[in-house]
Amino acid sequence: MNTAGFAIAIMAAGKGTRLKSKRPKVLHEVGGRALLLHVIAAAKTIVPASQIYCIIGHESDRVRDAVAHTGVKFVLQAEQRGTGHALQMVKAHFTLSGEPIPENLVVLSGDVPLIRPETIRAICTLHREEKAAMTILTAVPTNPTGYGRVLRTNADAPDVTTIVEQKSLLPHQLDAPEINSGIYCFRTAALFSKLDLLSTNNAHGEFYLTDVAAMLVEDSQRVVAIQAESVDEVLGANTIAEMMHLDAALRAATTRRLMSEGVTIFRPETCVIDAEVQVGPDTIIEPFVQLLGATRIGSDCRVRSYSVVQDSHIGDRVLLRNGCILDRAIVGDDALLGPYAHLRPESHIGPAAHIGNFCETKNVTLGAGSKANHLTYLGDAVIGAGVNVGAGVITCNYDGTHKHTTTIGDGVFVGSDSTLVAPLTVGNGAYIAAGSCITDDVEPEALALGRARQVVKPGWAAAKRADRTPVKANRD
Ligand code: UD1
Ligand code: CA
Repeated sequence: MNTAGFAIAIMAAGKGTRLKSKRPKVLHEVGGRALLLHVIAAAKTIVPASQIYCIIGHESDRVRDAVAHTGVKFVLQAEQRGTGHALQMVKAHFTLSGEPIPENLVVLSGDVPLIRPETIRAICTLHREEKAAMTILTAVPTNPTGYGRVLRTNADAPDVTTIVEQKSLLPHQLDAPEINSGIYCFRTAALFSKLDLLSTNNAHGEFYLTDVAAMLVEDSQRVVAIQAESVDEVLGANTIAEMMHLDAALRAATTRRLMSEGVTIFRPETCVIDAEVQVGPDTIIEPFVQLLGATRIGSDCRVRSYSVVQDSHIGDRVLLRNGCILDRAIVGDDALLGPYAHLRPESHIGPAAHIGNFCETKNVTLGAGSKANHLTYLGDAVIGAGVNVGAGVITCNYDGTHKHTTTIGDGVFVGSDSTLVAPLTVGNGAYIAAGSCITDDVEPEALALGRARQVVKPGWAAAKRADRTPVKANRD
């Protein structure tokens, strides 16, 4: 559908009193992303960001900072006096700014995050076809309590007579099954003509946007309803428990998507996988794994239990043994990590390289086939191919003020328990003796020893023990 002539307003100014949280409601997260960012992402598939008006109010600076990168416009609702009042602010924005008023205005709720672009399009299409003044997205959940109810002229007609908020339902309306999702499309002129006529004469003492429906009907303008295909998509998030229900629904959808793409996920309900994560076919994910943010994992990998991977790119045929923690790391094909490897930001692990037990890396490039298998810290280092980093090796990269780089050439052997004090360069093929403290550059193919020479005193131990025997003999 051509959505020229459409703009979108997102209501996101409310406090979310029912959450009992300091954080503004629309910044609470489901599926690893703030509620409002889900809604903005859906909106941006319909119209450009310049046609999206985000209504902010409670903690507006914080909300603005969190979503400004999306390029949407903001409308301030300094005092939150209801959803109708929120749209009054949008009308005032157009009047004051002189921006052209769009023919149609889609209204989304910042706290209804699972709305799908297809559904928004379906609302717009019906709105046009029916030449409606207002089109309302509805659903029929198992328990409608708490939602506003949409009453139709008769069950089969799309036409609506009114929306009644939960607290205003008459006894015979309490079972009305069809809920208002809080998502609408308006002919903008029709909406704007009614906003100033709203009153606060209701249970919450607020301006209800929902009252516009009956006002338009009274004016003989068409108000129609369209039912969402899935109930989950229009569920609101007014409490933390409701949000966690949405979170579970979203993550279940993600694991289903990945499995349909050929990924094996054992006990998917135990895994926490964010919506944008990509995984190649024939990769196996074990229980209790977290894959977060913009993580991409290739094909034929295995991610063993308790690994947490954030914003990282992993190649093909990689094995993550149990308990690996990756944050913004890049891992080449055929690499082997863990158990309990910690790859911090800017860790570039080359193809077929190994980072083993209790190894930590940070701002490191490790060349193809290089290995650091045990108890090692590698920070601010450029390490070539085919390097063997022994157990307990440490790059001393920080002098208390500045960070320094350690450069290790191809084929170097770094003996166990060595400390490499940066800045330092070790040439190709060099050999560092175990237990060395290396402070000066090492030329290619050289052997470097940086430790005290061993002293051996033959018979010393036996003499020490013999020294004590007289004491024992006297007692006898
Ligand atoms: C609203 C609808 C209800 C519907 C439900 C669906 C009204 C009067 N009621 O109720 O019919 O079933 O959504 O989820 O509209 N907001 C503002 N400014 C305000 C008040 C709210 O921007 O002054 C924003 C909130 O941040 C939220 C959205 O509007 O994102 C909905 O507000 P909320 O208070 O949650 O309305 P509900 O009681 O859920
Ligand atoms: Ca709500």
